[in-house]
Amino acid sequence: MTERTLTIIKPDGVQRHLAGRIIARFEEKGLQLVAAKLVQITEEMARRHYAAHKDKPFFEPAVKFMSAAPSLVMIWQGEGVINMSRKMIGSTFGFDAVAGTIRGDFGRSERYNLIHGSDSPESAEKEIEMFFAPDEILDYEFSDARWLYVQRGSPKK
Ligand code: PPS
Repeated sequence: MTERTLTIIKPDGVQRHLAGRIIARFEEKGLQLVAAKLVQITEEMARRHYAAHKDKPFFEPAVKFMSAAPSLVMIWQGEGVINMSRKMIGSTFGFDAVAGTIRGDFGRSERYNLIHGSDSPESAEKEIEMFFAPDEILDYEFSDARWLYVQRGSPKK
């Protein structure tokens, strides 16, 4: 089923001029960008984003980090995009993320980890609502869709 995920290139990704290279990875994979904007996340928004972690020791530092400079917030769409993009992003911190993943290739910090991707369809829905109005999300076809989207198990032509 076609899914959507909320992806945030965090302040360190924008400040380190990596936004284009990170976006290129999603494009090269055949995922579809359906919304994007540069956002100065406020402390209040960051607190909401990390509400599930409010008792963890990293909560306040994470709030400060996310509100320190603009972030590029996007919605990517595609079959299985949530899992696929989490694999592309890699494990939480660059110092132990596998090479070939975004965090594994571009970072080494134990806080500044470049990118967020929704971890489930439920969080994707909530996170998308937090950043985008429905009319900011576009519905369009890729002209090369037939070369990208034949699903596992579908008959070979
Ligand atoms: S946990 O505790 O296993 O649920 O944490 P994890 O799934 O690894 O991370 C949850 C989100 O918290 C962010 N995080 C941090 N941010 C800044 N500093 C530190 N030390 C830190 N530890 C965890 C982590 O990046 C996840 O947020 P997102 O926005 O999804 O990247």
